[in-house]
Amino acid sequence: MLSKTQISSFNRDGYLVIENFLEKDKREQLINRAKEMIDDFDPDSSNSIFTTNEQERASDDYFLNSGDQIRFFFEEKAIDSNGNFTVPKHQSINKIGHAQHVLDPVYKKVINSLDIPLIGKQLGIEKPRKLQSMHIFKQPNIGGEVGLHQDSTFLYTSPMSCIGFWIALEDANIENGCLQAMTGGHTLPLKKRFKLAKSGGTEFEILDDSSWPDRQLDLLEVKAGTLVILHGQLPHYSAENTSNKSRQAYSIHLIDLNCHYAEDNWLQSEI
Ligand code: FE2
Repeated sequence: MLSKTQISSFNRDGYLVIENFLEKDKREQLINRAKEMIDDFDPDSSNSIFTTNEQERASDDYFLNSGDQIRFFFEEKAIDSNGNFTVPKHQSINKIGHAQHVLDPVYKKVINSLDIPLIGKQLGIEKPRKLQSMHIFKQPNIGGEVGLHQDSTFLYTSPMSCIGFWIALEDANIENGCLQAMTGGHTLPLKKRFKLAKSGGTEFEILDDSSWPDRQLDLLEVKAGTLVILHGQLPHYSAENTSNKSRQAYSIHLIDLNCHYAEDNWLQSEI
């Protein structure tokens, strides 16, 4: 449970850092389970590259139908212009998502052992739903940049309710592409929505076309096991991983079932 100080610091900053949230044993369970899944994964069954160039992935059915599946997405730099892998399979995966917290017994057990819905309630979510989760690898040398964004862009409810829970499975620092956040920026309006287009594929709907304020981002360098809670409107970013160490993290997003989940959100889940 969060203290009053923690709740007010989340409300002030738009994020909250809690050290020693996930024990080593549970971190290893997730890391090892991901390894097993990648062992069993046939790369030819997926051609999906996760890129911050949203247009590129926009019409990708493998991505769009992953809301209630366990699917594998490649790092952009893992595949060259001829379609050949530049790295071994285990170093090619950008992330696994988006429903392993429901479908996989190991992930499910670890996630259900944590008080994430309870924390969500303390932060204002009345009826929490674990909507999606991602095992993020940020692979050595090629882990891609994730551009400045607000999570409510992708998981929109009315009123907005999305909160992200980002758990470091490995140490995250400036070298391997830790999170960076615009402290207090959660009071800015939502810039855009990523949604299903009527003509098929996806599109961005611009809600506020002003540019981001010229504010420095704060580096969230954290030890393995740390939880970072992110307000859905908090602008955050992570740089490319140019180090030779991965920066694995597991993130899960809550929404409030008492808020209306947009029918045209990219993520639609049957489970
Ligand atoms: Fe995010």
